[in-house]
Amino acid sequence: MTAKKQKRRIAFVGSECYPFIKTGGLGDVMYALPRALVSEGCEVRVILPLYACIPRKYKEQLKYKGSFMMDLTMEGRTFFVGIMEMSLDGVTYDFVENREFFDWGNPYTGLWEDIPKYCFFSKAALAIMNYLEWVPEIIHCHDWQAALLPIYLRRKFQNTPVGKARSVLTIHNLRFQGICSIQHLKYWSGLPDDLFDYPILKYNEDEADMFKGGLAFADKITTVSETYAEEIQTPAFGENLDGHLRYHCPKLCGIVNGIDVEQWNPAADQLLAETYTVEDVLDKKKANKLALQEKLGLDPDPDKMILGLISRLTDQKGLDLVDAVFPQLVDGNTQVVVLGTGDPRYENAFRYFESENKGSVCAYISYNEALAHQIYAGADALLVPSLFEPCGLTQLIAMRYGTVPIVRETGGLKDTVLPYQGDWTEGNGFTFEQYSANRLLDAINNAKTVYFTDRWHWDEIVQRNMQKDVSWEASAKKYMALYDEIAAWEN
Ligand code: ADP
Ligand code: GLC
Repeated sequence: MTAKKQKRRIAFVGSECYPFIKTGGLGDVMYALPRALVSEGCEVRVILPLYACIPRKYKEQLKYKGSFMMDLTMEGRTFFVGIMEMSLDGVTYDFVENREFFDWGNPYTGLWEDIPKYCFFSKAALAIMNYLEWVPEIIHCHDWQAALLPIYLRRKFQNTPVGKARSVLTIHNLRFQGICSIQHLKYWSGLPDDLFDYPILKYNEDEADMFKGGLAFADKITTVSETYAEEIQTPAFGENLDGHLRYHCPKLCGIVNGIDVEQWNPAADQLLAETYTVEDVLDKKKANKLALQEKLGLDPDPDKMILGLISRLTDQKGLDLVDAVFPQLVDGNTQVVVLGTGDPRYENAFRYFESENKGSVCAYISYNEALAHQIYAGADALLVPSLFEPCGLTQLIAMRYGTVPIVRETGGLKDTVLPYQGDWTEGNGFTFEQYSANRLLDAINNAKTVYFTDRWHWDEIVQRNMQKDVSWEASAKKYMALYDEIAAWEN
């Protein structure tokens, strides 16, 4: 008789997770990938900070699981660690409570305060696993906020139960690395001097880099698309860590993100004016478009083409290109809807375009989940002209909602959007390679031409996109294979 195979135990550690707290795609991945892994037969716990800004309706569901004091800093100061828990659809969420660190911010404040916050969080995550006597085989850490964990695992917890675990560190965005003065990080992390050397935490003569150190210590490094995994090993995309990543490339791979196809499901999305499937998308998109136009004060006309943009408004997203071509986008037959917040430079530019083009342009400068769903459903095309894009989720969501992406060929955008080149059997969107406003304009004009003069082909793209597999299933299997490989290593 064979013994029942134990479920693979995996801990996810990161700074955001939908529906509790989300500022971008990291929050989506921290929600969707654990659920996909549970479907593959894993046991997953997600460890998150208990931020004050988490909505009350979730906080009310949390159950107290215990508390203890933990030392941190060079001086060994002790801090309170509370554990609050809840389960949702088979995933367990453990929230780390400490008011000194997590009581302000949305959830981030500024690097000076965020560095101590996430030193505390990474160490507390490990201490919690020991406290709960739940030892995973794999600890999957996400971005710089959890990057010290692989170091603590080997240098502070190696002789404790959790010390047996393997670590994976995923790069969602290399632009943010948790860089500060060596002194600041030494003090707060309490890590020994020998780690503050160039191959590990040292960034330059004066500064230390949390991500860099974590990448050196993690058993595996992943990033969120195959192309970005290549790109970050070059000076153009490496954010000064390309040499470090080339050195560690034997343990680096790219696994493309998916989206949660239940969370993003036009057939059941209660936020839409009308739900739809690939069978009736062509009619129902018109109804969703009209509802969107009415809601946003645009001229109600289903024959106009709507270009959407849903984004953090930062340089990463190629918004200087959009800014440059904006006056040429609005042509009497085209409307533009922008949903985003961020850099005041872009917020103000989009507000200005709205005031210049009342009825044709809407700049909705805020973060709004419901409106995002309505734009994915009501727009015809979605602009994602990013300067760099580790994966990008908005183009995946757009395709699922039958909206055609217009993207720059970089990172995950290149890996997920096959260019339409006139062939009616393939292509998901309109793409351009060179980072230039003219190339973006060409791609948009190509899209407009097909939309207005060759609707049959456009509709084919819409339907093909809705049938494309953008789920997590295939990528969750790749993560499983990676976990299996490192779990099998001898101790
Ligand atoms: P990034 O993580 O770099 O911001 P992604 O494309 O991976 O980019 O993920 C962005 C996520 O955030 C998507 O789920 C998108 O719908 C959402 N999003 C971005 N801006 C807004 C906004 N202003 N309102 C609502 N959702 C937004
Ligand atoms: C980051 C990247 C984005 C990616 C997301 C989730 O925020 O900017 O490209 O999709 O993480 O991995």
